[in-house]
Amino acid sequence: MVQASAPAKIILFGEHAVVYGQPAIAAPVSSLRAAVKAENTPPGTGLRLIASDLNQSLPLVVDPLAVDDALALTVRLVLERFSSPPPDLTLTIQSDIPVASGLGSGAAVAAALARALSDSIGQPLSLTQLNEIVYEVEKLHHGTPSGIDNTVIVYEQPVFFIRNQPIERLTIGQPFHLLIGDTGDSALTRVAVADVRRLSDSNPDAIGEILNRIGDIVTRARTAIEAGNVTAIGALMNENHACLQQLTVSSDKLDRLMDAARSAGALGAKLSGGGRGGNMIALTEAHQQDIVREALMLAGAVRVVQTTVQ
Ligand code: PMV
Repeated sequence: MVQASAPAKIILFGEHAVVYGQPAIAAPVSSLRAAVKAENTPPGTGLRLIASDLNQSLPLVVDPLAVDDALALTVRLVLERFSSPPPDLTLTIQSDIPVASGLGSGAAVAAALARALSDSIGQPLSLTQLNEIVYEVEKLHHGTPSGIDNTVIVYEQPVFFIRNQPIERLTIGQPFHLLIGDTGDSALTRVAVADVRRLSDSNPDAIGEILNRIGDIVTRARTAIEAGNVTAIGALMNENHACLQQLTVSSDKLDRLMDAARSAGALGAKLSGGGRGGNMIALTEAHQQDIVREALMLAGAVRVVQTTVQ
């Protein structure tokens, strides 16, 4: 039996602007994972995928030849790369990562699945190869992904990311603590990205100015993160969120969670990921975590997960 897994991720700074070539910063959330177990089955039984936790209440058997299915596409890309016929194998997928909430569940499932399958056929993928495959699958989910989700999930390291440029690992001057507050509202990143594109097409100067401002915030955030200046990181999160509001990708619920976190003493807060729903992140000092967590729940978060960026 082979097992493989991949983490969730959060975008700390720069979502949306990263699609337009600005830098962004993201980090893995190692406590939330997608996992895949691969078990050999008798000759002639073929390849079977079972996804029991991906918003499905019952096990689902997926046709590996279906082209519009992300799981089937992942399988196909791995087998094609090694010119391998479908092996006799059952792949069981289990994920703790909420779907459509900005935590990269699709990329994490694809990464874990591709790893488990390639290991099972004796052809372990390099990180570069795995990243390429997960990026292809991301296109199915997102249309025009920047590549940040697959990169941070495959490498499982904090990254400073610029589209189409080599990955830069980020040095963390001092570990910092985040609470991830889930609005419980699912939202499609693809739709938010397309709306920002329309906004930008209709008003290129004003939107271009906001995107540049986000790029500048990300650059300053990198310096603050490397220096371990937690107060500055928090202030920059607030600034980044204000820009995302102007790009129309926040929501009333996200803004409510943001206000609650800040009033309870968070050093900064912003939405994380595609927006319109999904998750927000709040930067807290260790001793404030319980108070901020409670404030988020009272303001309507459906769950709050703690993570440390290190
Ligand atoms: O919704 P998520 O977490 O998958 O984040 C997407 C980030 C965007 O910048 C909005 C899109 C992208 O492709 O980078």
